[in-house]
Amino acid sequence: MKPVKVGLLGLGTVGGGTMNVLYRNAKEISRRAGREIVVTRAAARDYDASAIDGLHSVTVGDDAFAVVRDPEIDIVIELIGGYSPARELVLEAIANGKHVVTANKALIALHGNEIFSAARDKGVTVAFEAAVAGGIPIIKAVREGLAANNIEWVAGIINGTGNFILSEMRDKGRDFADVLKEAQELGYAEADPTFDVEGIDAAHKLTILASLAFGIPLQFDKTYTEGIAAVDPRDVANAEEFGYRIKHLGIARKTDAGVELRVHPTLIPERRLIANVDGVMNAVLVMGDAVGPTLYYGAGAGSLPTASAVVADVIDVARSLTTDPGNRVPHLAFQPDELSDTPVLPIERVETAYYLRMTARDEPGVVAAVAGILGEAGISIEAIKQQEPAPGQTEVALVMLTHRVVEQRMNDAIARIEALDTIGGSVTRIRVETLDG
Ligand code: HSE
Repeated sequence: MKPVKVGLLGLGTVGGGTMNVLYRNAKEISRRAGREIVVTRAAARDYDASAIDGLHSVTVGDDAFAVVRDPEIDIVIELIGGYSPARELVLEAIANGKHVVTANKALIALHGNEIFSAARDKGVTVAFEAAVAGGIPIIKAVREGLAANNIEWVAGIINGTGNFILSEMRDKGRDFADVLKEAQELGYAEADPTFDVEGIDAAHKLTILASLAFGIPLQFDKTYTEGIAAVDPRDVANAEEFGYRIKHLGIARKTDAGVELRVHPTLIPERRLIANVDGVMNAVLVMGDAVGPTLYYGAGAGSLPTASAVVADVIDVARSLTTDPGNRVPHLAFQPDELSDTPVLPIERVETAYYLRMTARDEPGVVAAVAGILGEAGISIEAIKQQEPAPGQTEVALVMLTHRVVEQRMNDAIARIEALDTIGGSVTRIRVETLDG
């Protein structure tokens, strides 16, 4: 059979890795795909040719649009990242009848609805396994492996850089900026590392996972996003004393009222497997009504792990080239005319448990006043700890865990607690999830 001709946009960390995987595993890949897969053309500005195999047979230029317009190319792999010109390149590749493989989570989360619609009109596939959790085949698992299930919720550590930072801070007491620098040197961090630290990268990935899990359109703008920069070592230590770890989780949950879509630091019980996922590794926990909880773990970033997902997509597309487009697996797992308009809930309507830390004056009645406010709001306290005041100090740290409550009710209670003149400053609040059902 004729080889499949591929045009590659970007020869950086993932582009170089993709070349290397295609080169080193060429024989196995063609045995699987049923035909050879050959990169014939690439576009890149800066790249290290000495670190990339197989470039000798590739025409490399700096004009990405020339690649998407090349009539010889069957599949375009977009590994440039960012919104623009990635969006224009992908849309033009589709318009020219090419299949597209991309690792670009920002592009899919923001422009996926438009891109998939254009792809359907042209009868081509846009594959994006590498966009979520790097080398973990989570798109395939949710879209195909769990297709029998009513998926109830998804919770994941889906940003390797953020997890690396939190793990190093907890285990080695390292400084935030120092760990971030190392993640950048290792090629894990986004070009703009605030995307990692502020949870935007995780929100891109969660947006995609939620659409695949629940059959809703991509709605990045409705995803609640809170970063890790404010995670305080005192909260990390308090969480451990209560038997929890703090992880930066992306959580998507289907409720009777709507869909929760949220990224934020979260206390999770340390006995859960996912609580022990450290360093740059990613993990996604998916709860299906038939299968129960399933956990997917692996490298969420890096050259070869991400290339593993990119190349798997290329093989998938190569296998389906002769299939009737109407019979291919739908981009967002559900048939496009079956996507539902279930509302995404604002964070104030989300129900979760809480960890609270506040500074209280060390005198009679303070704990009773705080407990009274929570009680009046119908918020039940699960655990409470008052730390010893430091010698000569009259203020103590008061730390507690609560049962589940709707966020708006907790906001109101926190406002009342902060107004007490026996409580100093603001109340620190971190959401708690038990991930057990
Ligand atoms: N910056 C991302 C991360 C890369 O750290 O997980 C993979 O998407």
